[in-house]
Amino acid sequence: MDDSLGRFLERAALPPGWHILHEPVVESTQELARAAAARGWPSRTVFSADSQTVGRGRRGRSWIAPPRSGLLVSLLLREHAASPVDFTVLAAVALCETIEALLKLDPVIKWPNDVLVNGRKVAGILTEASDASGGYVVVGIGVNVNWGAARPEGVPQEATCLELQAGYPVHRGELLVVLIERLGTWLALAPGERHSALWRAWHGRLWRHGETVRVLDVGRTLEGRLIGVDPDGALLLESVDGAPVRIIDGELILEPPGT
Ligand code: BTN
Repeated sequence: MDDSLGRFLERAALPPGWHILHEPVVESTQELARAAAARGWPSRTVFSADSQTVGRGRRGRSWIAPPRSGLLVSLLLREHAASPVDFTVLAAVALCETIEALLKLDPVIKWPNDVLVNGRKVAGILTEASDASGGYVVVGIGVNVNWGAARPEGVPQEATCLELQAGYPVHRGELLVVLIERLGTWLALAPGERHSALWRAWHGRLWRHGETVRVLDVGRTLEGRLIGVDPDGALLLESVDGAPVRIIDGELILEPPGT
């Protein structure tokens, strides 16, 4: 398979209004997008790279992906009437739809921002909003696509890649183009309609919805039934004594099969 994403994207037909800037190596596509945003680049620009020297994940973690093994993109969006969490929801739903459509897999969303296939993480989303006026959001998406023979060094045990789950190598360019099409379709809806439909779709794919989960929350582990997510993005649990618990900044514990 020709894995030159740059060459593929030069010829790819994108939905109207979308642009891609692809670089072989960058520090982080997040920084590229933020610098471009500060210089006035337009909404719906996608910054993509084959590899990152300082790829960033949530909570100060790094995002590790050997060259050409993943989809590493940051979307610059300047859309009205949406909060940052709405963009995480948008990206997660669009990515699940892409994986489902192209690979016939069954992705789910692990609160707040991971995409899982068969109980293992294939992708993470990092949404960063500007606090300046004339605001924008940068939505970073990292997808583990093709690892070849072995899990890359430093990648957490609970992660997997699309190639392993699909059983064959996956074309990164096709993945990105379909992802942009899905994003474009959602963004074409009127804001109110989009908001409610996206949140419905997101809830419909929520990992362990209705089941008992464990959450790491400010140094303690809580257990309860996952009953939903508030519009501000907080996780809602029903604790063992029946009391509702809101978790704003915790982390659901993932115990994948066979670990
Ligand atoms: C997470 O699961 O912690 C979020 C990971 C987000 C990684 C992507 S890769 C493209 C973009 N550039 C970065 O430096 N980070 C995001």
